[in-house]
Amino acid sequence: METVKNLEISLKSKKYKIFLGNNLLNQIDFILKNHLTNKNIVILYDKVLKDRLNILELSLSKVASKIASIEISSGEKSKSLNNYIKLCEQVIKTGISRDTIIVAFGGGVIGDLVGFVSSTLLRGLNFIQIPSTLLSQVDSSIGGKTGINSVYGKNLIGTFYQPIAVLTDVSLLQTLNKREILSGYAEIVKHSIIKDKVFFQWLEKNGPDIIMGNNQLRIEAILKSCRIKRSVVEEDEFEKGNRALLNLGHTFGHAIEGYLNYDGTILHGEAVSIGIIMAIKLSLKMGYCSKNDYERILKHFNDVGLPTSMKLYTSKIIDPLKLWKIMQNDKKMYKNHLNFILPDKIGKCTIRKDIKKSEVLSLLNEELRT
Ligand code: GLY
Repeated sequence: METVKNLEISLKSKKYKIFLGNNLLNQIDFILKNHLTNKNIVILYDKVLKDRLNILELSLSKVASKIASIEISSGEKSKSLNNYIKLCEQVIKTGISRDTIIVAFGGGVIGDLVGFVSSTLLRGLNFIQIPSTLLSQVDSSIGGKTGINSVYGKNLIGTFYQPIAVLTDVSLLQTLNKREILSGYAEIVKHSIIKDKVFFQWLEKNGPDIIMGNNQLRIEAILKSCRIKRSVVEEDEFEKGNRALLNLGHTFGHAIEGYLNYDGTILHGEAVSIGIIMAIKLSLKMGYCSKNDYERILKHFNDVGLPTSMKLYTSKIIDPLKLWKIMQNDKKMYKNHLNFILPDKIGKCTIRKDIKKSEVLSLLNEELRT
């Protein structure tokens, strides 16, 4: 039996645990017995996990009364309104009732989409997250953000809806390529820059081994990262205030993804990585953070191979004004102004509501013009 660590998330709407370890998939019947016994379970899984599905089904079949599995294609395109409707009908067709449990088995796209399906079917079905990418293990599977995309922007249709449990199995990361691991690592470093300088120092030392595949270090990094996210979400579940700090790098990042049409050219974590560097450059320009901290962050990103420039992803000249316009559609627009999360120093960020268009455009012009 593998060691299982757990972390409780205690929110007003729900309390639940993240179970974390190596090779947990075939122990789900034991780990989540209380949730699963005699239940009708519908697994919504990412197509790329087809060869792991039978391990999950076999384990679930030891306790469940009935299991149905539905395949979803990977990629942001699956988070469309049409696909959401199609998926709801497919789940309903399996024969669901109020005590059906939905299992989201996949990365961030699957978690967001399936979380939204779960929150709306029969006015809310219990769901369990089994995140399969580093990014979803450290970020999107916890905290209850669900959502699909509108033609006007990413995640504009969604809910806050917490899972009843999260099962995080690092063995699922073995088949990911380095780009996908780095994409998740960007969110881990993000958490350290937001709230924990000691964790950042630890990452400076251990980052390369985490990326290379050391499972013990990966478990530790995920745990440390989830603790930071927990502390923020427990304080502000519905993002009325400080939860927005978790969006460090995302205002720029989402705009970059939008600029590149969410066509898979850039991964979410890569866009966030570039977005964090843009945020710290803006912070330096505004006089909020020191050159030393800026250089230290940049050095760590370069050391581990995190991308720091959008220019890597297109051969065309990038139009700063177009990027700015995409930012205006971001759901982080409040009362006609954009919030920027800017680092003051490593381990502390501030939500800035007073950044002028001219300041952002000047940064983008310096950054993007060839
Ligand atoms: N990914 C940021 C949040 O969950 O609030």
